[in-house]
Amino acid sequence: MRIIFFFLALFMISSCGSESPKDKSSKPADPEPTASTNDGKGIGEIKSVTLNDPLEPDMIKRGKGIYDMKCAACHRTTSMRVVGPGFKGVTERRKPEWIMNMITNVEIMLDKDPDAQALLEECLTRMPNQNVTIGDARDVLEFFYSLDTDK
Ligand code: HEC
Repeated sequence: MRIIFFFLALFMISSCGSESPKDKSSKPADPEPTASTNDGKGIGEIKSVTLNDPLEPDMIKRGKGIYDMKCAACHRTTSMRVVGPGFKGVTERRKPEWIMNMITNVEIMLDKDPDAQALLEECLTRMPNQNVTIGDARDVLEFFYSLDTDK
């Protein structure tokens, strides 16, 4: 009996011990759980996106132009983080709806979307609203897909 108790105690100690190093952020509590369940599509006007297969070259070109003008100061097209994350692999990390909502509705996303908030905690800079229309955001999305498909 005493032996069983000993092992039980040991188990409890070690399971607590392994927990603490993982918990790096010492936030007091989660800031209110999000009301709706997180479907990974983000928050905003974009509810569903139809993707092109194959990709549309004109859209890629326009998207690249917008990127050069409005995004390149903070984002690279590689996986390297500068101010914001590198865009390489973004279409694998996020749903297309999430990406477009992040581009067109960034304030709300940073305030309410759990994945955007996690990113903000890492980057410590709020991405500013770039006044990108939904049509332009769709071109940028096409450009993002081109980064993740060309070999
Ligand atoms: C002033 C710097 C800045 C500019 C300019 C900027 N961003 Fe960001 N962006 C950020 C930061 C910082 C983040 C990470 C979230 C946060 O901390 O706000 C981010 C996050 C993102 C994400 C999510 C990336 C991921 O890995 O999930 C996308 C998508 C994005 N930005 C798109 C754009 C697009 C498109 C433009 C141009 C139209 C743009 N950003 C312009 C700073 C910027």
